[in-house]
Amino acid sequence: MKKEKILITGGSGFVGTNLIDKLPKDIYEIFSIDIEKPKINFDVVKYEKIDIRSKHIGSLIKDIDPKIILHLAAQSSVSVSSKNPVLDNDVNLSGSLNLFLSSTKSNVEQFISFSTGGAIYGEELGKNFKESDDTKPLSPYGISKLNFENYLNYFSAIKKFKCKTIIIRPSNIYGPWQNPHGEAGVVSIFAEKMLKNENVSIFGNGDEYRDYIYVDDVIDFVLKIINSKEIGTFNISSGEITKTIEIFDYISNIIGYKKPPIFLEKREGDIFGIEIDNSKSRSIGWSPNYNLKAGLESTVSFLKDS
Ligand SMILES: NC(=O)c1ccc[n+]([C@@H]2O[C@H](COP(=O)([O-])OP(=O)(O)OC[C@H]3O[C@@H](n4cnc5c(N)ncnc54)[C@H](O)[C@@H]3O)[C@@H](O)[C@H]2O)c1
Repeated sequence: MKKEKILITGGSGFVGTNLIDKLPKDIYEIFSIDIEKPKINFDVVKYEKIDIRSKHIGSLIKDIDPKIILHLAAQSSVSVSSKNPVLDNDVNLSGSLNLFLSSTKSNVEQFISFSTGGAIYGEELGKNFKESDDTKPLSPYGISKLNFENYLNYFSAIKKFKCKTIIIRPSNIYGPWQNPHGEAGVVSIFAEKMLKNENVSIFGNGDEYRDYIYVDDVIDFVLKIINSKEIGTFNISSGEITKTIEIFDYISNIIGYKKPPIFLEKREGDIFGIEIDNSKSRSIGWSPNYNLKAGLESTVSFLKDS
């Protein structure tokens, strides 16, 4: 059987690495593009170092001729977006648009784009946000992600291109391969510091809450949506909210860490809390498999071994 060609952007990142690891290699011929080197050297995956803003993206897509594009490449940090909104817009909007418009000149049939669930709806404590709710991003990152969604929805509505588009709005993803030294990803940051018995800082008072979803559950959704007839926007979340201090306590217990957290001022662009409804994604037969305890244990054991 001829394998289907799939192009992943941001394949060297946290989610991209997990995705490439899980994609069945007997079904898909996998191509990955990124500005960073891959974290795992998969022999069967063809990697190209290229920026999604490059003018050569179009000819690369023509050469590869993928049927599906999974767009994950991004400036993915809210705090970097607050410090450098021009860079954020350049990558997340201009780069993404460059990639999408280039892919419409080729035979791409499905364009699946990672947006954000946590940074797009704004903040209304007690509200469980659905895909149809108003969007009020409170950071340049949320704005650039929403602006690219608007372009995808615009092109989809005017039916100018045959390529079908899917927008995925994940909540806070955690799991193996998340950068423990980055500015986002509290689970890996806390766990790495606790394993080294270093001090752990919390931005805010610890009552801030998020929906944490294990990376394998996000990938299960991607596997479900590839080649499906679905179009449109899907929240991907666990459906459970957890306070930052609870994350701190759970990981402390798993590791046996005894130091108290250090509370710092909240960062610009960080919201207090967000709850993300996953009933639309559940309605197409997906549901999260991991509870928080299992996901945290698996993440800690990955960090211990790496
Ligand atoms: N991790 C989360 O909690 C989360 C939550 C919601 C949405 N998302 C979105 O999911 C996607 C994947 O997230 P992640 O956590 O794997 O992020 P990540 O930062 O780990 O990976 C992003 C990858 O994109 C690459 N990249 C950045 N700029 C590029 C450019 N100009 N050209 C080519 N490659 C470039 C980076 O080198 C990196 O490997 C992103 O679009 C992110 O915004 C992530």
